[in-house]
Amino acid sequence: MTITICFTNNKGGSGKSTVCANLAYELSQAGKKVLMVDGDMQLNLSLSFFDEDKVLEMAESGHNLYEAVRGKKDLTDYITPTPYENLDLVPSSTLMSQVEYELFTMMQRELVLKKCLKKIKESGVYDYILIDAPPTLGTWVINILCASDKVIIPVEASPWGLFGLANMFDFLAGLEDMTDASIMGILITKVDERKNYYRQTKEILDGFEDMNVFETSIHVDSSVEWAQDASKPVAAFKKNTRSAKEFKQLSEEVISYGSR
Ligand SMILES: Nc1ncnc2c1ncn2[C@@H]1O[C@H](COP(=O)(O)OP(=O)(O)OP(=O)(O)O)[C@@H](O)[C@H]1O
Ligand SMILES: [Mg+2]
Repeated sequence: MTITICFTNNKGGSGKSTVCANLAYELSQAGKKVLMVDGDMQLNLSLSFFDEDKVLEMAESGHNLYEAVRGKKDLTDYITPTPYENLDLVPSSTLMSQVEYELFTMMQRELVLKKCLKKIKESGVYDYILIDAPPTLGTWVINILCASDKVIIPVEASPWGLFGLANMFDFLAGLEDMTDASIMGILITKVDERKNYYRQTKEILDGFEDMNVFETSIHVDSSVEWAQDASKPVAAFKKNTRSAKEFKQLSEEVISYGSR
């Protein structure tokens, strides 16, 4: 069974794309077959695996998510293999900025992405489909949530990070009739040990009833940025860095979580 997980939080810069890319890589290294879908016009997930020239070429070629969604096409034909085994990508396009407009006139406009992914899901080829969402809460993000089984919410350990989280819960609660997607967990990211705010964030989050907060937190690590600069997942860029170990540990948590 394929498990589809999306990374959402309308708070910008909370680590969605970074976590999506590195978790996908670690899952594939663990022998799982993984498809990533870059749902953001910022192209950050695509840039995590390909250099700027290649990403822009894919964006301009029509071989990208925007064209697929616009034409309500099966995503199978839009998959690009990454340089890593078991790890494929549906790249994005800067034209994703227009996707809300495109969806506006479509019938069942919240379910377009779900239908584009239907054949891939039913084929069971992939163990996981990971979808990176933009920092918005419009019809497109509703599409991403409707296409997903599980949601991972990366949260930065900051007061405004927690404020954004309350918004996310309200938004998801409002979609209850539309999607079966449930929250797999909240992931604390960009932890800076020099700031006390991490401990407070963890305490507040642990106080939420019936909410899984991942045991793993991701610390601030300059290797993350250098790896992104080299268009590589952090473990492929430099093994044994702190964040590489944390992303591996996160992948183990996700695998053991299963589809429950
Ligand atoms: N663990 C980390 N250590 C250091 N820098 C990090 C870490 N995680 C993320 N970053 C940096 O923080 C910034 C935001 O991360 P990222 O782009 O993954 O967040 P996002 O939630 O996807 O943002 P957006 O909302 O714009 O899509 C990026 O510049 C990234 O390089
Ligand atoms: Mg992002």
